[in-house]
Amino acid sequence: MPSCHAHLPPLDLERLSAVSVLHGEHRIILRLLDCLDRMAERAAKAHVMPVLEARDVIAVLRGFADECHHAKEERIFFPALERLAPGFGPVRVMRHEHDLGRDHVRGMAIAVDEIDVAGFVHEAQIFSDLLRQHIGKEDEVLFPMAQAMLSPEDDVAILAAYRDASRERPCGPLLARVDTLTAIYGLASADGPHETTSRHSLCGCGSGTVGICR
Ligand SMILES: [Fe+2]
Ligand SMILES: [Fe+2]
Repeated sequence: MPSCHAHLPPLDLERLSAVSVLHGEHRIILRLLDCLDRMAERAAKAHVMPVLEARDVIAVLRGFADECHHAKEERIFFPALERLAPGFGPVRVMRHEHDLGRDHVRGMAIAVDEIDVAGFVHEAQIFSDLLRQHIGKEDEVLFPMAQAMLSPEDDVAILAAYRDASRERPCGPLLARVDTLTAIYGLASADGPHETTSRHSLCGCGSGTVGICR
């Protein structure tokens, strides 16, 4: 196992791999966080709870960020790393941060139900900062380490497991909702309007087509 991630080669994102799939999903989650930030900013300014929009963002955070993305990490990717390096510390930290994030999403949902604008804004800001930092640690530290640890055979097995997970829990409709939220909040992606759809090729179905990811 490498001792210092600073000396690892950069991530290879051109190739479909265990880490490139997760890295692609991070870009979608970051767009969702941009929507959440803007929503919280507007709620704080107007002192009005955007009940429907907030419930929608929370539903997509739970459905995509947690049940599709974090589930892939916790059930497939992290265990693969732990098999290669038992007790692998960075993975323990990442699991803990997922749990912290779930607590804050629960806090946001409670605040929405109680029409507690200040509580919602507070939870949303903490959650957004936490998840952005978490994604930064995975992209910049954990993924380069994992890339160096995983063999081509490991990658093939992990991608097959991602594909199975994507069949059990299709992420397509949730991705379309990310596009809708992005448009509502005027946050068109620098990569163009079809960025999310193109990410279907990274969702784990492996075919590069949208169909399997419905
Ligand atoms: Fe994670
Ligand atoms: Fe992640």
